[in-house]
Amino acid sequence: MCRTIRRLERFRARQPDVQFLERGRVQTGSRGRSPPMYPLLRPLFFLVDPERIHHLVARFLRLIGRNVALASRIRRSRTLGDPRLAVRAFGLDFPGPVGLAAGFDKGDGLAAGAFALGFGSVEVGTITPRAQPGNPRPRLFRLPRQQALINRMGFNNAGAEATASRYAELAFRPGPVGMNLGKNKDTPSERAPEDYLTAFETLAGVGDYFVVNVSSPNTPGLRDLQAPAALRAILGPLVAAAKGRGGKPVLLKLAPDLTDEAVDELADLAVEEGLAGLILANTTIGRPTAESEAIAREAGGMSGAPLLPRSLEIVRRVRRRLGDRLPIIGVGGIFGAEDAYRMIRAGATLVQVYTGFVYQGPGMVRTMEQGLIRLLDRDGLAKIADAVGLDAKD
Ligand SMILES: Cc1cc2nc3c(=O)[nH]c(=O)nc-3n(C[C@H](O)[C@H](O)[C@H](O)COP(=O)(O)O)c2cc1C
Repeated sequence: MCRTIRRLERFRARQPDVQFLERGRVQTGSRGRSPPMYPLLRPLFFLVDPERIHHLVARFLRLIGRNVALASRIRRSRTLGDPRLAVRAFGLDFPGPVGLAAGFDKGDGLAAGAFALGFGSVEVGTITPRAQPGNPRPRLFRLPRQQALINRMGFNNAGAEATASRYAELAFRPGPVGMNLGKNKDTPSERAPEDYLTAFETLAGVGDYFVVNVSSPNTPGLRDLQAPAALRAILGPLVAAAKGRGGKPVLLKLAPDLTDEAVDELADLAVEEGLAGLILANTTIGRPTAESEAIAREAGGMSGAPLLPRSLEIVRRVRRRLGDRLPIIGVGGIFGAEDAYRMIRAGATLVQVYTGFVYQGPGMVRTMEQGLIRLLDRDGLAKIADAVGLDAKD
């Protein structure tokens, strides 16, 4: 096994300084000190059921995260630590602009391990007040030709109390930890505000920022909570409670399937309700038009490369409307530095990845940071914050 790995490393070391992705997408980025093997191992991983692989990776991250010295040593090799990439948003300091999106850690205490891989922030959740198992398996599917995933996990999560006690012990925390909140499946929509408030109160001591998730397609009726009246009923009490907790930032995460008019309306509502920012966007119920594979017909939310055009479009639209009044976290289809840079130039202050991380592997953050620095140099910009919204000007 070791010999095979060494051979793979030698082979990888001879490859040119680019990452070739399936379907011919190329993202530049120089390789780290140790050549990434993930592109070679990925076909092997992809032979195994996606949720089993997730649990294996989770176990590994938990192991790393338990040892602070080890986690910080690994982190030093996985991030540039370049001050040009540091970002300040909604009162918090982010050591880098690339965060791990919600859904990877459902309250399982993986953030320290994820920070070891270089992420500048980790969003935990979605967390509901009570633990719940989610939908029956199989519920996570790969679309490798599309560089996409479909999931209908259904907010499987540890519940707010278990998450709070796991995160109270989190020793390695080099960046902000967000807590993404949802309602339990069996809570009727009219009682949703209580669920969001309970989850917030339980997690208030362990999260640096909070996200109202009303945009996942896998909890029946959840996306109806994006209707302005329903949303105000959730946000009003939550923002008031957050003020009482030292002004913890509350953000709202929206679906990419909203009409442009609804996006405009909700962007205005976010300002009126005193939110700290927007996360654009969640998974889509849309499917790639040319896709004929049976797996693409699975119910659930699709994430990954096909999402990028729409997430860019929404970010640019909201930035044009709100200017710099509300910071945006751009998420959806980011696979490398160029995607992230486009997202930032479209108006995102920070970016997040999930599916890109599954396809690109543990070297992703460092490779992205190297690419971002090169793009800043190319454009003569001193720091990443100077690129925010450059492509959203009229
Ligand atoms: C398996 C899986 C589970 C997810 N679970 C959640 C979730 O619980 N809450 C949430 O707000 N977003 C969830 N997401 C959405 C991601 O946070 C992100 O918005 C979306 O995947 C688009 O980004 P990507 O293309 O980089 O994956 C999930 C995504 C995936 C792939």
